[in-house]
Amino acid sequence: MHEAPDQPSARAEPGIAELLAARPWLSVAPDVGLMLDEVPLARLAHEHGTPLWVYSDAVLTARYRALEAALAGAALSARIHFALKANDTLALLRRLVALGSGADVVSIGEYEAARRAGFAPQAIVFSGVGKTEAELSTALVRGVGQINVESAEELATITAIAARLGLRAPIALRVNPDVDAGTHAKITTGKAENKFGIPSDRIEPLYAEAATSPSLRLIGLAVHIGSQILALEPYRRAYGRLADLVRRLLARGLPVERIDLGGGLGIPYGTEPAPPPAAFAAAVHEAFGAFRLPLIVEPGRWLVGPAGLLLSRVVLQKEGAARRFVVLDAGMNDLLRPALYDAWHGIVPVDAARLHAPVSPADVVGPVCETGDTFARERALPQFAPNDLVAVLDVGAYGSVMSSNYNLRPRAAAVVVEGGTARLVRRRQTILELFSHDMA
Ligand code: LLP
Repeated sequence: MHEAPDQPSARAEPGIAELLAARPWLSVAPDVGLMLDEVPLARLAHEHGTPLWVYSDAVLTARYRALEAALAGAALSARIHFALKANDTLALLRRLVALGSGADVVSIGEYEAARRAGFAPQAIVFSGVGKTEAELSTALVRGVGQINVESAEELATITAIAARLGLRAPIALRVNPDVDAGTHAKITTGKAENKFGIPSDRIEPLYAEAATSPSLRLIGLAVHIGSQILALEPYRRAYGRLADLVRRLLARGLPVERIDLGGGLGIPYGTEPAPPPAAFAAAVHEAFGAFRLPLIVEPGRWLVGPAGLLLSRVVLQKEGAARRFVVLDAGMNDLLRPALYDAWHGIVPVDAARLHAPVSPADVVGPVCETGDTFARERALPQFAPNDLVAVLDVGAYGSVMSSNYNLRPRAAAVVVEGGTARLVRRRQTILELFSHDMA
């Protein structure tokens, strides 16, 4: 198993000052402490309580525009389809709609979220290895833009459903290029042993056969090799294979309207280098520029990851037999990534004095009754007192979406900071709501 690439363990971990310096949307004022886009986090905690997801509209907008500019700069006609699995907060989705984004969804729930946010059905791609018949027919009836097909078996199901409904299903075949994305094993999707996609050598015959079906409209091919990818080499290899397949399909006179390149572009969780979007765009151009075909990219993390932080209060600091523990009111039920992938997230104090106080190693943990409920081990942090605030950084992607009610803890509220003010965009779940599905 690979070590998590978002773990700056090999080099020295970045300190609080370095983390902040690399994130200019965060700043410190002597009187109010840490601010996001000039809005004091202490004020947000006071007004909305903790744990609290805090998103920056400006960061999301800037990242969307930067990616869009990089793709256009490489002379690519590529449309961004935000992967909703990274963040399904309607307020953020609405911003993405306004910016011109399309959507990538993996369930009818996400399809519904995309529609509510205002994505046109035509701008929605439906991916996923286990779409049910009910999900497929609902998406088809409601006019989904593209279904990424993950197996010959699924293609047969889709063909039958489309025939029954009397429509043509717009499909792309998802290729499994057998390329190692060099990321954490749990988020690698493009290797032969992974459950995703159709092996490269089966694509051509399947595509040719699909082209004869009156119930299918062939859009092209899709690929997605994994997430939090910090090197361009895996992309080059996967895209090279995909481009070979496209060339062969075109040579046979088969229709290819568009190519879907998936997501996966990684972000720095500390201060480590990550490929800039222009370098990614250049790699895309290298493989696909000559086709002059419309392209789709499906980023999730790159767009929203840095735009979110988790604001949490220190319940208490306790001296264990072997180490100091900072116990937060946020737990693995809120932010699962550290427990699930050993993911590294920056954690910084909010109070100005704490930001500049001497540091020593501490384990930052949640209140959940599992040792895995640990956000950071031996992290250089100041001393804390009960009710102090901390911000867990870069949790805009795969943060709130992966939270649960484990230990019967309600799901946290969310605010969006925009133009110097903050707006509550998701209210905190109540204790009563936790029982609203029980029937006895
Ligand atoms: N397209 C497809 C078909 C995907 O499966 C994914 C993510 C994306 C696009 C977006 O990938 P991104 O650009 O966000 O890397 N929970 C994990 C990440 C799982 C990613 C799953 N697929 C984490 O917290 O790291």
